[in-house]
Amino acid sequence: MKILVVGGGGREHAIIKKLKENSKVEKIYALPGNGGIADDAECVPIGAKDIDGIVGFAVEKKVDYAVVAPDDPLVLGCVDRLEERGIPCFGPRKNAAIIEGSKAFSKDLMKKYGIPTAAYETFSDMDAALEYLKTAKIPIVVKADGLALGKGAIVCMTRDEANEAVVSMMRDGKFGKSGERVVIEEFMTGPEVSVLSFTDGKTVVPMVSSMDHKRAHDGDTGPNTGGMGTVAPNPYYTEDIARECMEKIFLPTVNAMNAEGRTFRGCLYFGLMLTPEGPRVVEYNCRFGDPETQVVLPLLKTDLLTVMEAVTEGRLSEVEVEWERGCAACVIAASDGYPQSYKSGYELKIPDDVKPHTYVAGAVLEDGVLKTHGGRVLGVTAVADTLSEAIDASYAMADRIEFENKYCRRDIGRRALAAKNL
Ligand code: AMP
Ligand code: GLY
Repeated sequence: MKILVVGGGGREHAIIKKLKENSKVEKIYALPGNGGIADDAECVPIGAKDIDGIVGFAVEKKVDYAVVAPDDPLVLGCVDRLEERGIPCFGPRKNAAIIEGSKAFSKDLMKKYGIPTAAYETFSDMDAALEYLKTAKIPIVVKADGLALGKGAIVCMTRDEANEAVVSMMRDGKFGKSGERVVIEEFMTGPEVSVLSFTDGKTVVPMVSSMDHKRAHDGDTGPNTGGMGTVAPNPYYTEDIARECMEKIFLPTVNAMNAEGRTFRGCLYFGLMLTPEGPRVVEYNCRFGDPETQVVLPLLKTDLLTVMEAVTEGRLSEVEVEWERGCAACVIAASDGYPQSYKSGYELKIPDDVKPHTYVAGAVLEDGVLKTHGGRVLGVTAVADTLSEAIDASYAMADRIEFENKYCRRDIGRRALAAKNL
């Protein structure tokens, strides 16, 4: 089989490595991929937002199956376009990808179908938003309606910060069109859990839960990033909570999307907060999380392509999806200064025995030399019987990777370990 994977980060590298375990897979194209992914797939310089380019390539190469991983092409309707040309895909169609593409849509969906989430108001007029903030309870959260590279939510601890957030989005265009409309929502507290799930619109199969580390620095300080590390499973996510989430959140969401005529097929990501009032949805993503995928897929025992095809064909209930019993930890190595300003273009050396555990996010090959390219450079994942062994092993590998301005948080998994010992 010839498979096309749209995207070019650590998440896509993890998906590609897992797909390669299936002997039916003869060839994988990554569009655009990156210099590190080039070890595992043929990388073609067609951007993930270039839908015409992607569809043209897929048709020309007669690919048998496509996995559309990032939010942008999903929200732009890449799956619809590939399907029109007879190419089966993993990923939701445009009318379902809106669950991530518009926060106003997802909040209204949750309100209409009684799915627990923070109370909120939506504004398209800046003066109305500022008026609302005069009496709103603080802290409060201001979110751009559309896609914003995961950075469109601003948690505001003071009224001034909230006013500034609204002005930056609605007047100064901080997130472009994505911020023309904002959602202002109640501040919630509690541990966060990421639950990715496979769904064909009828059956929901949650994957192993995980914990992201979004802040740049140790102790969850510093600016928000795309994620500095992950662990799985998430110790806060007990079996009782999992049951409650299935009943009150996962199935109601999939059913709500069906009722709206927007059947969701693909990976539906639930960003949850375990509040004192019970689990609530912080956000939905219409795709695999990054870097959650880099700890979740290494724990998947069942063949990934088999599960994906079952999702596409609407027969997920026929597949038994099994997980390893152990734990996984992923440490991200970034360019120092990320997510603000940083330098790239340094030679990147990954020892051969570490490569199988490495998911490259930002690298280019220049005359056969692998160089860093971007903020997050790579993630290294270790799987072990216990969480503390997985964390130690992943740091041991991350420490052997070399590039000049390498920066890692040193406390990935520490909070999870503390929670385990409660
Ligand atoms: P989002 O882009 O919606 O996933 O939000 C990014 C991060 O902001 C989340 O992972 C939370 O840490 C935080 N956040 C978002 N919404 C809320 C909320 N209503 N209350 C507290 N924290 C929030
Ligand atoms: N790690 C969060 C996300 O993928 O949006």
